[in-house]
Amino acid sequence: MSERFNPTSQAITAIAPSNIAFIKYWGKRDVEKQWPANDSVSMTLSESKTITTARRNLTPFDSFQMNGMTVTSKDLPEHKVFRHLNRVRDRLKLSGHLDLKSSNTFPMGCGIASSASGFAALTLASVAILTDAQSWEDLAAHGTNRETLADVARLGSGSACRSFFGGFTHWSAGATADMQKITQDFTPQHWNLADIIVVLSAEEKLVSSSQAHLAAWGSPLYPARLAGLDHRLKLVQRAIKSRDLEALGHELESDAIEMHSVAMTGSPQVNYFSPATTKFLAWVRTQRNLGQLPAWFTIDAGPNVHLICDAQQAEKIATLVKNAWSEARVITDGVGEGPRFFRGEMEKDHV
Ligand code: PMV
Repeated sequence: MSERFNPTSQAITAIAPSNIAFIKYWGKRDVEKQWPANDSVSMTLSESKTITTARRNLTPFDSFQMNGMTVTSKDLPEHKVFRHLNRVRDRLKLSGHLDLKSSNTFPMGCGIASSASGFAALTLASVAILTDAQSWEDLAAHGTNRETLADVARLGSGSACRSFFGGFTHWSAGATADMQKITQDFTPQHWNLADIIVVLSAEEKLVSSSQAHLAAWGSPLYPARLAGLDHRLKLVQRAIKSRDLEALGHELESDAIEMHSVAMTGSPQVNYFSPATTKFLAWVRTQRNLGQLPAWFTIDAGPNVHLICDAQQAEKIATLVKNAWSEARVITDGVGEGPRFFRGEMEKDHV
């Protein structure tokens, strides 16, 4: 889709991609410091994005507009966007208040990682306008390079840090909370994969991932999951390196099922699957065994399913899904670049 910009000197627009985890971040060692219990690996997406425009607000308050609703920090100081803006300003020693306007290119709050692209775009747009940056070089000159921004975005939503890099990204938990690292393992050009997102339900989930991360520690399955993840990390990194889709697919299905088993047996128990999710997963495996569907599933914190496949097979697979699941919305996504920002604002709400 074409992008039309209206360059105004007062606004900065950031466009940040979502990402899909092949090894899920699930559970935190330290909530305050956002220290994950395990390393995660993801693919940055090309179509599912958040677009956030920031303008300076000369009052001592911030405002945030999304889906036609506006909230202000005067009325709702505890809103997650305003709490994050305060963190950004505190951490990076920046000052000034903002009017923010956001939109997504995909349905939010149902397992398409809207918080990842949302907090990445929010962090980038806010820091760029508060530092008067026009480019990544300007940002780096202010002491806010890509790694620093990813690290700050992580405080809003852990998975947001991975959206700062294109291609295939690794968020390493490190030996202490301060030793976390976010790195790009491979560029988007390394492997042309697709993510067929099958939206079985666009309803917002009832339990946020923040709540579910805490519940993981109560699951008797959680220690076993954590103990096996170093091995899975090696297998997944090796599969990406050698572009071995079958090996990757095997690990990504196991990882998703494991994460959801931990959620379902946690304390409290959290169930993101809908009856349609279970039916759909069984259908995928049957079709694959019949040689019809060379794709492997993964599922974030919601009822919807991501099918990872070779980009050359994407159209065929999307058509198969649409024919068999006429009530589902099917979004074809692929491997993408990291975020970008511009001076000005989009003429249309969506890219
Ligand atoms: O970033 P959060 O707190 O929304 O947690 C993300 C959790 C998963 O999407 C399920 C897994 C992941 O690593 O993206």
